[in-house]
Amino acid sequence: MINENQINTKKAKPVIELVNLVKEYDEKVILKGLNIKIEKGQFITLLGPSGSGKTTALRLIAGFEKPTRGEIKMDGFDIKDLPAHKRPTKTIFQDYALFPNLNVEGNIKYGLKLLKIQKENVSEEKIRNLELRKQKWKKIADLKMKKLDKEQEEYQKILENDSVNSSKYKKARKWLDESDFKYSYWENYVDLKEESYKRKNTERFLTKQEMNHKVKEMIKLIGLEGNEKKSIDQLSGGMKQRVALARALVTDPEILLLDEPLSALDMKVRKKMQIELKAIQVKLGMTFIFVTHDQEEAMTMSDKIAVMRNGKIDQYDSPKQIYDYPNNSWVSSFIGDSTLFKGKYVKKGIVHFNNKNYKCENYEIKIGSDVDIMLRPEDFEFTTKTKSFDNGEIIKKTFQGAMWEYSIKNNNNKIISIKTNKNKKIGDTIYYRWNWEDLHVMERENESKKL
Ligand SMILES: Nc1ncnc2c1ncn2[C@@H]1O[C@H](COP(=O)(O)OP(=O)(O)O)[C@@H](O)[C@H]1O
Ligand SMILES: [Mg+2]
Repeated sequence: MINENQINTKKAKPVIELVNLVKEYDEKVILKGLNIKIEKGQFITLLGPSGSGKTTALRLIAGFEKPTRGEIKMDGFDIKDLPAHKRPTKTIFQDYALFPNLNVEGNIKYGLKLLKIQKENVSEEKIRNLELRKQKWKKIADLKMKKLDKEQEEYQKILENDSVNSSKYKKARKWLDESDFKYSYWENYVDLKEESYKRKNTERFLTKQEMNHKVKEMIKLIGLEGNEKKSIDQLSGGMKQRVALARALVTDPEILLLDEPLSALDMKVRKKMQIELKAIQVKLGMTFIFVTHDQEEAMTMSDKIAVMRNGKIDQYDSPKQIYDYPNNSWVSSFIGDSTLFKGKYVKKGIVHFNNKNYKCENYEIKIGSDVDIMLRPEDFEFTTKTKSFDNGEIIKKTFQGAMWEYSIKNNNNKIISIKTNKNKKIGDTIYYRWNWEDLHVMERENESKKL
């Protein structure tokens, strides 16, 4: 159980941890056992195609939905049973969910009205009183748990001695199945009581001046100066997004959850907001869990990306690691451009594809395995006929920043993606090669693993 103090202590290093997190709706398994650890102050992205379970995962972390099985740990405590409003999280939704009847300032101030902070002067007596009460609550809880222990023992005996079909047995089974919940109430009893005592006796609401000060600071941070009195329907999409962000950040949550917050913006505003959002996250040192289906957005913003497919996390790594060393061919095609060959791992450090044997740097794969071989566009180079591995005809070219990206069709009708600064024409024959160190070899997934 987590209490207010633990949540608010900045010195502690809260880590969110999902442990075998499963969510089922009716008979359908939506999340199939998620496992990730999130460190304080990191920008984490859940990236995956539509329907892969990103929003569901976020809603479980926020507490809007209960997991079917598994744990959500914060700072080592299981917060699965903690209601949304008691979690140290704030959520920003794709449609902003702003209050249309309040202006910009009013929207930002909204959350502050319920926020409580530690009182400056708490009397010695109140503190002594709390200590005495805690001892009393602990006695009550201990007694209740002893009673539960006894009951548990009795029911366990029934399971051992009575027949499976007897009503006594069924009653015992039911009691034991639910015993976790019976225990967890009393295990958390002291913390719950302490929390409610503190809210009444040692905490206070913010004053008007404090609220105005916080709102002003936030308006400055988010770049909304001059728009304080505007009504929500007067704002552009980008501005609305800023208000939503300010409203979430002003209460100083430990963790900000963002569900595709930039999807509704046009490309130019979106790119700008990506940069600003990242800068704000770094400045505040806050933990962000960001959801998107846009791989480029995930790559530019995240410290780590959890690539989701069909309710599972295929890979959880830094963007660079995922780009250079994807776990499987699906991840390699989802993130960035790539050319994939099907092949076989024939000997230690030797892979066969494209009708030839090639050296490679992957030594961990079982000999004889089916493999996928990946090359990124920048791994290829144009070369002369004599130095080439292969050749093909340019069928498509696009200009990307300072580089040209070409699609080349080779003699086997295989399409190769190459990136280079050389300007060539469509229809030109191109000789190309790669360095064997750049081949990334992945064990091929069998069909059942993909589901
Ligand atoms: N309340 C619900 N009841 C039943 N199925 C749901 C519910 N919410 C989501 N789903 C299903 O769960 C899957 C994942 O949805 P979601 O988490 O929204 O994916 P994403 O955010 O990655 O697009 C989808 O197939 C969706 O239809
Ligand atoms: Mg979604």
